[in-house]
Amino acid sequence: TLRSVIMGTGSALPRRCVDNAELATMVDTSDEWIVGRTGIRTRYIAGEGETTSTLATEASRKALEAAGMVPGDIDLIVLATATPDQTFPASATIVQAALGINDCVAFDVAAVCSGFLYAITVADNMLRGGAAKTALVIGAETFSRILDWEDRATCVLFGDGAGAVVLQAQDTDEATGRGILASRLHADGRHNGLLNVDGGPSTTGTVGKVRMKGQDVFRHAVVNLAQVMREVLEDVGVTPDQVDWVIPHQANARILDATARKLGLDPARVVVTVDRHANTSAASVPLALDTAVRDGRVKQGDLVVLEAMGGGFTWAASILRY
Ligand code: ACO
Repeated sequence: TLRSVIMGTGSALPRRCVDNAELATMVDTSDEWIVGRTGIRTRYIAGEGETTSTLATEASRKALEAAGMVPGDIDLIVLATATPDQTFPASATIVQAALGINDCVAFDVAAVCSGFLYAITVADNMLRGGAAKTALVIGAETFSRILDWEDRATCVLFGDGAGAVVLQAQDTDEATGRGILASRLHADGRHNGLLNVDGGPSTTGTVGKVRMKGQDVFRHAVVNLAQVMREVLEDVGVTPDQVDWVIPHQANARILDATARKLGLDPARVVVTVDRHANTSAASVPLALDTAVRDGRVKQGDLVVLEAMGGGFTWAASILRY
């Protein structure tokens, strides 16, 4: 069976780490409030010279190195972001140029926090369909640049970063082989008003800032994430106790706990990085995956579920044998 196999992972964070105490000097908040409501302790904030594409390029180089490959091996780049360097061209082409790849397919995908799941599903379909052989799939964001730093209800929740995987089409054993086994994507555009950016090229001509109704997002997140994970588990006929690792979108520790409980998943099998990275939108799933691969938790052959939910709303999950 032809499947898309993750050959290597990489990630990148900005130089500057900001803790909750530092945020409390900027807005009326406290370490106690932020940790209690979200589990977040620190986040990384892009500084001078650091952009979505520079972080994406660094993460991609590390993923290529981990895969034992060179940029010339890549014939497809799919980059998920809501914070591109420029309105156009796609940040994927900026990464492509930075890596010195002169001709390959390169484009961005916009699904906000679910962006990496959308990107890897699009890449998986293109690889299995024969449009490409080896892809870089990247989630990269600099949300700090679209935050309202005077709105304590949103600015404490997000951080910047990037994660990347090298995905390659391989002929694998139907029953035991590695690769992506099933994916499910969803969107429901009726919920724009609950989580959005209040600007854009075609409306205000400005970049805009993140606006969110946090409690409504929270409620939808737990229901939608539990549902979409159940779908991919049923697609491949496995039960929650057979899953080795869940790599969730890192929005809020309370969402992770509530979702795991709803599905009957062992919390020890859920990879958590939100305490250190905060919510990095499309970057959070590949950042958490790279963290768990490099610290030895996720091993070849493990059954891994990726899931995310974000603005739109969009929500998605994939199940793969790593
Ligand atoms: N510090 C101190 N107080 C704050 C802060 C802050 N940073 N932010 C808000 N408050 C105050 C509010 O003003 C409010 O005060 P009031 O009662 O005097 O009006 C009080 O805290 C409670 O506010 P709520 O919004 O009701 O707090 P809630 O318990 O819902 O927690 C939170 C807010 C953390 C945003 C929560 O709703 C949440 O996590 N929602 C999920 C949103 C999310 O993760 N979005 C990410 C993007 S989507 C995704 O990735 C899934």
